Amino acid sequence: MTKIIKRVLLCPPDYFQIRYQINPWMKNGQVNKTRAKNQWLNLVNLCQKLSIRTETITPQASLPDMVFAADQGLIKDNSVILARFHHQQRRPETKIYQDWFRKQGFQLLRLPASLCFEGGDALIVNNNIFIGHGFRTSPQSPRAIEKLAKSPVIDLGLINPHFYHLDTCLFILNPKTAFYYPPAFDQTSSDKLAKFFSKLIPLTKKEAFSLTANSLNTDHQVIIQRGAPIFAQKLAQLGYRVHQVNVSEFFRSGGGIHCLTLTTQTN
Ligand code: ARG
Repeated sequence: MTKIIKRVLLCPPDYFQIRYQINPWMKNGQVNKTRAKNQWLNLVNLCQKLSIRTETITPQASLPDMVFAADQGLIKDNSVILARFHHQQRRPETKIYQDWFRKQGFQLLRLPASLCFEGGDALIVNNNIFIGHGFRTSPQSPRAIEKLAKSPVIDLGLINPHFYHLDTCLFILNPKTAFYYPPAFDQTSSDKLAKFFSKLIPLTKKEAFSLTANSLNTDHQVIIQRGAPIFAQKLAQLGYRVHQVNVSEFFRSGGGIHCLTLTTQTN
């Protein structure tokens, strides 16, 4: 069945800026606020054009990374496994998002208090959940998530600090096809990916550092970062329609299209 995204949650970048450094991308200078706002609005408009319902949460002045909605948890059907952020700077985001989830009627699920987990480390295909760990998510979390979600979890070890979340180095196009950046994974994890996906396509270093993996696909259409011609061409060859946006201001914080959009409902 083709994956169709019905709803996404986003957070306006009103207070988005670089106020601390919790990943290597965050050393690349300050955000241009107007540009960030325009890039974000273009992304929202494109989602709407592709028939995705967009919802927004109210940003908080003290939480510059709140804009990365995808990190807040893993949504499966009507439940959400809430994030527990590794860095203390992002922990207060959880309470605000949790209230939103509750108001929307999601069942709230929590990992044991000793475990960290961030939504950027979770990708779902059919009933399978891929969980990255090593930087933000604890190595014991995949098994705990498997219990909470009652779905098979494939855990993947991340080893490159620039690719600290799974959604920065793995893009799942469909149950057979995925793109990945090999140096981001340990060998066992690359082997697991090759076993699962009959078409596992490596991204070049240049593509990986343009956060190409951080794309969004719905209904045979893919929203990608502008300036990734090889990726765009491969998607087209595979029968997918490509839409390009520019979210370069968010790269300064280590985030892209996928990080900015939390999928709250699929078909
Ligand atoms: N500055 C944020 C952080 O380091 C960026 C998060 C990007 N999110 C993602 N899903 N990759 O936490």
